[in-house]
Amino acid sequence: MRLALQAIAEELRRLKNAGVKTVAVSDASVTALRATVARRQGTADKISDPSPAAAIKPSVAAATLAPKFPSPPPPAAQLPPPPTVALPDGDKRTRWDALQALVQNDATCRAHVRPGRKVVLGVGDLDAKIMFVGEAPGAEEEIQGEPFVGPAGQLLTKMILGMGLKRAEVYIGNIMNWRPQLPTVEGRDQVGNRPPIEEELRYCLPYLRAQIEVVNPALLVALGSTAAQGLLGFKSFKALGDVRGRWHEFGGKPLMITYHPSYILREPTNRKKRMIWDDLLKVMERAELPISEKQRGFFLEK
Ligand code: URA
Repeated sequence: MRLALQAIAEELRRLKNAGVKTVAVSDASVTALRATVARRQGTADKISDPSPAAAIKPSVAAATLAPKFPSPPPPAAQLPPPPTVALPDGDKRTRWDALQALVQNDATCRAHVRPGRKVVLGVGDLDAKIMFVGEAPGAEEEIQGEPFVGPAGQLLTKMILGMGLKRAEVYIGNIMNWRPQLPTVEGRDQVGNRPPIEEELRYCLPYLRAQIEVVNPALLVALGSTAAQGLLGFKSFKALGDVRGRWHEFGGKPLMITYHPSYILREPTNRKKRMIWDDLLKVMERAELPISEKQRGFFLEK
């Protein structure tokens, strides 16, 4: 019950941050909530006025909308062991199509997406030299079924263009194949995102490994802390700054770690842009991409 109350409080905070000023709650829901809180405080027998109006503002009490909080997704500790991904022999397209079918039919992945939303596998050139690895699908991604198509994705696409490549010339995947769920008011879209927990990362990792096996890129670029933890190990570093901008290794591939594009979206300073760009210049050098003087100078001015 404590978790359910926390989930409600969390959802209310998120709605507030998203600009929602009032939330209407049905009489029945308020009565149930008051009783729950009172039970937790051992005061159920002291409630003299069970009427919802005693607890909430009239303007809210008068509203008719009755949000219900469905149970949160099963605790990740209840996730089954990570899948064993066995791909057929054949060319890259055959193997990738088989992988796509596997992930789309994975009962655990499917159980974690809401109706009308999609399980998301990576996208891009199956012969790409560079594979970007992000965290998890967000709102736009779970609708379109493609990684990095929302605001962070648009910025990533610009970064790729800055490297002299087209988006379709790289491969873009995520550590997670579903959008980590948050409790949501019934009938409403999920507001906000949460980072995946370790069990979720572990569950999806075989699908990322399989994509790396199929595409066989020359190098990997992890975007942000969650992707880095997925590849280097959960809690294997304290701060992203400790591991970014240096070469690591994952599955026999050189791995560069840099910030997630959303880091720039939150505060688009040239200093931050340059930090990511410095890391991407290293990627370009290692991938033997041509680098112009202009590219070397991006974001140097204040
Ligand atoms: N952020 C990510 O890490 N991945 C996506 O696909 C979208 C946003």
